Amino acid sequence: MTARNPLRDPQDRRLPRIAGPCGLVIFGVTGDLSRKKLMPAVYDLANRGLLPPGFALVGFARREWASQDFTQVVHDAVKQYSRTPFREEVWEQLAEGFRFVPGDFSDDDAFDTLRQTISELDKERGTNGNHAFYLSIPPRFFSTVVGQLKEHGLADQQDAWRRVVVEKPFGSDLGTARELNAVVSEVFPPESVFRIDHYLGKETVQNILAVRFANAMFEPIWNSNYVDHVQITMAEDIGIGGRAGYYDGIGAARDVIQNHLLQLMALIAMEEPISFDARHLRIEKQKVLEAVQLPRRLDLYTARGQYDEGWAGGIKVPGYTAEPDIPADSRTETYAAIRLEIGNARWANVPFYLRTGKRLGRRVTEVAVVFKRAPHLPFGDSAIESLGENALVIRVQPDEGITMRFGSKVPGTAMEIRDVSMDFAYGGSFVESSPEAYERLLLDVLLGDPPLFPQHEEVELSWKILDPIIEHWTRKGAPQRYPAGTWGPEAADAMLARDGRVWRRP
Ligand code: BG6
Repeated sequence: MTARNPLRDPQDRRLPRIAGPCGLVIFGVTGDLSRKKLMPAVYDLANRGLLPPGFALVGFARREWASQDFTQVVHDAVKQYSRTPFREEVWEQLAEGFRFVPGDFSDDDAFDTLRQTISELDKERGTNGNHAFYLSIPPRFFSTVVGQLKEHGLADQQDAWRRVVVEKPFGSDLGTARELNAVVSEVFPPESVFRIDHYLGKETVQNILAVRFANAMFEPIWNSNYVDHVQITMAEDIGIGGRAGYYDGIGAARDVIQNHLLQLMALIAMEEPISFDARHLRIEKQKVLEAVQLPRRLDLYTARGQYDEGWAGGIKVPGYTAEPDIPADSRTETYAAIRLEIGNARWANVPFYLRTGKRLGRRVTEVAVVFKRAPHLPFGDSAIESLGENALVIRVQPDEGITMRFGSKVPGTAMEIRDVSMDFAYGGSFVESSPEAYERLLLDVLLGDPPLFPQHEEVELSWKILDPIIEHWTRKGAPQRYPAGTWGPEAADAMLARDGRVWRRP
């Protein structure tokens, strides 16, 4: 166990949250995630003064690099992707703690070198034996690496902490998720396993609970008496890029709905937690996931699509099956939409529509809570022709904020009511810019702060929701095509039309 500092009360917000002595080991250091997100986040944290002075970063990969080559790679990644300005003195101090260990995941010598490197760092940099192992690698290597950490004594937690960070996907269905969990939990106790769902690191996602539970005006109407339905959208304009190896055979539902969208839904639908402790949050999120009811007719209330060639940002782009390394007969969906209900008193008969897709009209993630019409409208028909439904839209990204839509009288001598919007934009209210999700999550790992990390139970419950849908799709054959740059396949529009509703155009 680590010694507790009696002067540091975790509840005391006057103290900045600074990680104690520690180091981070990244497996898969040559990958995209590491270059674009992890390395820049490490630098940004250092630049904000949130890392300990002797912080150490160890890269592990199958490359014949010397330490200075690794330093150069981190340097380039930081220059290109970090969000805070480059400061030579911060960089110099940080770079002194960089080490590189070349090797294969099955190479025992390399893991011995890793152990030695870490113990040298403990002496030279004062990392005190506290290290987090970030598995930024394809899931098929998880068990090898976790096994090696155990074999080589790297997971032993004597007078220090050892944590493992696992990137999604956590399995590809319930069975594989359980296998993966068995592998990891054999070596690390549950409180040392940090599963990254980077949506939970987003400021706007954390704000869902602040808005719901810090205000008196939303909770009273946050239920089936007032809410007509909820739409959760995560749209991307990009295609599959160079990720064929990961994406093909996985598809949109496993890639995004199983984790990000179901987590968003849980935060929107959950009851007030007793506290913001990991345990209390988890209990409430799990209750929502456990209460999810699938539509009886999966053929009518789910939809999937695959993008065809089309236009993105004024450029002609290829269809999914013409992307590099994608088989011409691939049936992987790049768009998925599902309708769920939550079987409890608060949400009885309120549909939650979840959709995600690549190569859609634009990049946007939002949650729209759409309200029922007022029970009585004392106006003539013509006065309310342009009145829609009230809505509260949580704009997760890119234009971060919240929009409230309601009817208002059009100025003039007649009574005519039309929808208007009231906006809260982060940029207009706060001077601080939101930290990058990975910055927040990495810091939480180093602090050992678990509320933003889903537990295994949540992962299992999410697969239980998705597995029957994916099985149904597998039986049904190929997904419907949609042209790149549009808002998805016709089946998705038909799915809402059946309920007399339409998707919002975000
Ligand atoms: C990842 C998915 O989890 O989220 C990607 O694997 C997707 O397919 C990405 O592009 C989107 O993240 P963000 O933060 O840009 O919405």
